[in-house]
Amino acid sequence: MNFENILVNKTAALAQITINRPKKLNALNKATIEELHHAFDALESDENIKAIIITGSGEKAFVAGADISEFANFSVEEGSTLARAGQEMLFDFVENLATPVIAAINGFALGGGLELAMACHFRIAADTAKMGLPEVSLGVIPGYGGTQRLPQLVGKGKAMEMIMTAGMISADDAKDCGLVNHVTTQEELLPLAEKIASKILRNSPVAISAAIVAINANFKDGVNGFNTEIEAFGASFGTQDFKEGTTAFLEKRKPNFSGN
Ligand code: COA
Repeated sequence: MNFENILVNKTAALAQITINRPKKLNALNKATIEELHHAFDALESDENIKAIIITGSGEKAFVAGADISEFANFSVEEGSTLARAGQEMLFDFVENLATPVIAAINGFALGGGLELAMACHFRIAADTAKMGLPEVSLGVIPGYGGTQRLPQLVGKGKAMEMIMTAGMISADDAKDCGLVNHVTTQEELLPLAEKIASKILRNSPVAISAAIVAINANFKDGVNGFNTEIEAFGASFGTQDFKEGTTAFLEKRKPNFSGN
């Protein structure tokens, strides 16, 4: 598939998506959001791909937000449609993928950029990265899930402060409050993401997908996460990966998971 605003690379079971609009600090315009949807959708359908890393091109920005030039003249209806369509097409879509997605935050992750990173399954950051939700400084609020996912990750009080002040926090502060899991140098960012991904790749893809569903159930309205876990746990017993994992353990060898 040919894209204008993103790059997609595959190495064995690992895919990397790079948002590639460096002159606009990788801001998410409509076309980029659509391309990201198609890329994630294609990688999810590719049975060889077992983990995805997403990052931004250059050393300055992961994503500096939604593209302000595109919505500056929007009406109330257009604003609602922008948020709803974006959430469905990209942010909720990524969060609910069966394939694990790691955000490697290489610079500014602001507004929609931080919202995209928060929709990923977890995040690591370069020590130069800066993160924030500056929307209220523009007279809007976060519209791609930021008011929901930031409190889930950092707690209500910290999220209130970050959103109300529109300020940016450093990578170390983001690690302290649970927004990112690891901080490293810019040079080591992608190697670290690949190292973590390689640990994921050793495990059962079907069990990992079920774990994503069960963990996400904790944050869904009207869904009993414990029931989701019980059902997913039971279903594991019917998979080939379960038979392979338990047999390999008993035979004192490494498992060779098929992902079925
Ligand atoms: N939407 C559209 N364009 C953006 C953008 C965004 N969110 N963020 C950066 N850009 C563009 C700038 O307009 C500029 O384009 P130009 O060279 O054609 O004028 C280019 O990217 C470089 O940005 P610039 O502001 O010159 O870089 P800087 O180093 O001075 O500042 C930031 C970096 C991130 C602090 C600043 O770009 C910024 O505040 N961006 C907006 C962040 C934001 O509010 N995001 C939330 C949107 S809801």
